[in-house]
Amino acid sequence: MTSPWWRSAVILQIYVRSFADSDGDGLGDLSGIRSRLPYVKELGVDGIWLTPFYPSPGADHGYDVSDYVDVDPQFGTLDDFDALLAEAHGLGLRVIVDIVPNHTSSEHRWFRNARSRADHPDRARYAFRPGRDGGPPNNWTSAFGGSAWTLDEESGEYYLHFFAPEQPDLDWHHPDVRADFEDILRFWLDRGVDGFRIDVAHALFKARDLHDMHEPDPRPLFGDWLTALQQPELHPLYRSWRKLADEYDGERMFVGEIVIADQVELSRYVRPDELQLAFNFTFLHERWDAEALRITIDRTRDAFDAVGASASWVLENHDVTRLPTRYGGGVGGRRPARAAALLLLALPGAAFVYAGQELGLEEVEIPADLRQDPIFFRTNGERAGRDGCRVPIPWSDGPPAFGFTTGEPWLPMPGSWVDQSVTAQQSNPASSLALYRAALALRHGSAALRAGSFTWRESPPGTLVFERTSAGETIVCAVNLEAEHLELPEGELLLASESVTGNRLRQANAAWTRVVV
Ligand code: NOJ
Repeated sequence: MTSPWWRSAVILQIYVRSFADSDGDGLGDLSGIRSRLPYVKELGVDGIWLTPFYPSPGADHGYDVSDYVDVDPQFGTLDDFDALLAEAHGLGLRVIVDIVPNHTSSEHRWFRNARSRADHPDRARYAFRPGRDGGPPNNWTSAFGGSAWTLDEESGEYYLHFFAPEQPDLDWHHPDVRADFEDILRFWLDRGVDGFRIDVAHALFKARDLHDMHEPDPRPLFGDWLTALQQPELHPLYRSWRKLADEYDGERMFVGEIVIADQVELSRYVRPDELQLAFNFTFLHERWDAEALRITIDRTRDAFDAVGASASWVLENHDVTRLPTRYGGGVGGRRPARAAALLLLALPGAAFVYAGQELGLEEVEIPADLRQDPIFFRTNGERAGRDGCRVPIPWSDGPPAFGFTTGEPWLPMPGSWVDQSVTAQQSNPASSLALYRAALALRHGSAALRAGSFTWRESPPGTLVFERTSAGETIVCAVNLEAEHLELPEGELLLASESVTGNRLRQANAAWTRVVV
């Protein structure tokens, strides 16, 4: 593996509620994940990222944490966590956990204290403010819809929540908040985790003047317009976290969820003494368009190379519509999604794969009465929310639970997934799972793919062709997005997203070839 490991790692994101259920309550849990580690290993990734499994009332499915140093009984116990970690490490898999520092649950003891009386010291950990002209203190809106302020009836003041009202924002200017999170990081580092994914990492500090912000309509996917966030105080904070993690052996790491489009600004968070990685959301949201992708790839590489950082390529996560559906759905969406997998895994840097992506799962239409995401409710159904990409993993058998649980899955699983279960795909060499496994095995065995130099090759409009080279080996990745066809590059054909006839790649196809030099 390249050193340090995270520079070229491929991490499987596990949405804990949806991966595997060990106790029949219909919700995934830590022991369920543990039982499926052999699958993860065989897939060929370097590690897993676990979404929050801490005690939580579940207003935002775990991103509302009421105790940062324990496990929610729905998901298991600390012993289950330790067993999962030990077994993952035994298999050579890294484990990253989610840290949610921007907000707590409204059920966290700090917030309960804060609300109990206006002079409780814990109140200063949050942003309570008097209203303005009979309304909230400023014009901020929540990412989940509606105002970002809720009136605390008892005191007559409002409190800030960039997400749901059950997720009050912490005031990071308060020294105790900072000190407590250092303890929380140490708690998990001491247990042996390999790193953290930092939730809304660009939002922790708010401008002290809490100035009004002009929200574009419609609200953009990216937060660049949020001028009261992305505060300069973040950089010294992340430097101190980096120092703290570097006290531990084993190259512990941070990956920031920094939802901004400006790659140069983004790269400032991954300067050598700050975070190691930051998700590239511009790449995730890019259209299936050769020029647009080329520009994003170049901008990312230029910005990240300039600070000596590794880029992190990502196409799916638990907050966005599944890729084949974004590409149009059905066969017409699945073909480019397969090609995109070969693009993703050939780009220089780290890559993140969201569990189910390797199965080519599509977004699921969830009936309104079964929806769970607060976004759906806070926007009165105007925004469907994220339930459709969080449907549990189909492991085997058929409906209703596909081996995910012996009970009733927390979200309904479509009967049409029979051909997409892990068992069905395992025995089908043409499956999406087989493609991911083959690509990951090749990447694992190829220094060129993991750490080689990157060079574009000239190619016709509507296509992308680049090579990765390291001592003695060149791997060429050719992607035909929308040209009539693309001449397959010279060399040995290693892998193609669909079977290749002759030496031409059809539209919505990608291939890797190898040239030994
Ligand atoms: C980003 C997480 O990915 C998302 O699922 C969550 O709702 C928000 N942060 C708030 O924590």
